Amino acid sequence: MAQSTIKVEIKRQPTPDAPSVTEKFEIPYRPGMNITSLLGEIALNPVDVSGRATTPVTYDSNCLEEICGSCAMLINGKARMACSALVDKLDQPITLAPLSKFPVVRDLAVDRSVLFENLKKVKAWVPIDGSYDLGAGPRQAPQIQEQRYPLSNCISCTICMEVCPQFNDVTNFVGAATIAQAKLFNMDPSGSVLKEERLRALAGDGGIQECGFAQNCVQACPKQLPLTEAISDMGRDVFIQQVKDLFAR
Ligand code: SF4
Ligand code: FES
Repeated sequence: MAQSTIKVEIKRQPTPDAPSVTEKFEIPYRPGMNITSLLGEIALNPVDVSGRATTPVTYDSNCLEEICGSCAMLINGKARMACSALVDKLDQPITLAPLSKFPVVRDLAVDRSVLFENLKKVKAWVPIDGSYDLGAGPRQAPQIQEQRYPLSNCISCTICMEVCPQFNDVTNFVGAATIAQAKLFNMDPSGSVLKEERLRALAGDGGIQECGFAQNCVQACPKQLPLTEAISDMGRDVFIQQVKDLFAR
């Protein structure tokens, strides 16, 4: 039977410290809507189900095609990307809430800068001077390219961190995405110059030893990164580095 409206309940808070409230909406149904277009409909006519005027819902989004990683939120209790969550495939009322492990900025927008701080800790980049033409980089074997490519698909959405029981204030665990990016750049012929620094960073506070191997990350990652494989490989490399450092004393 064709539906005429979409029922949606949204957890909202106007400022980082304000208490949260749930607002209910009924939005006219259109086929093919995703959560981002649903939020757009509310922005066009921000009136709740009781007819009370409210404000458009704040959320992050950019690419609308699961590439930028900005629109992650809890949709029916599950960490997902809003732009690839289709209304037709969701039970109603659809519930929307901000990711629970990150400080709320407003409504569904959260501050995920911890991921970028963690990427800085492991120097997840290739350290080259981009101010002049360096010519072609070193060649990479196709077998290495094949291993690196899936890791390069990370969109920094932080869903792997949201679903990880070890990602919390007690452990300070850096999370699966950071470990996977350390592996990606350790396998790069130019990036590997920082390999030892990355491994030592992952041996420190909140490092790879905090992983409890719950494997939630690999199941939830929207880009299907081989996260558990990356964690295993990096765990081995961190251990070898620790042994080397021990004998180098
Ligand atoms: S590893 Fe997957 S879940 Fe984690 S930030 Fe990258 S794309 Fe998102
Ligand atoms: S808007 Fe870019 S991933 Fe959803």
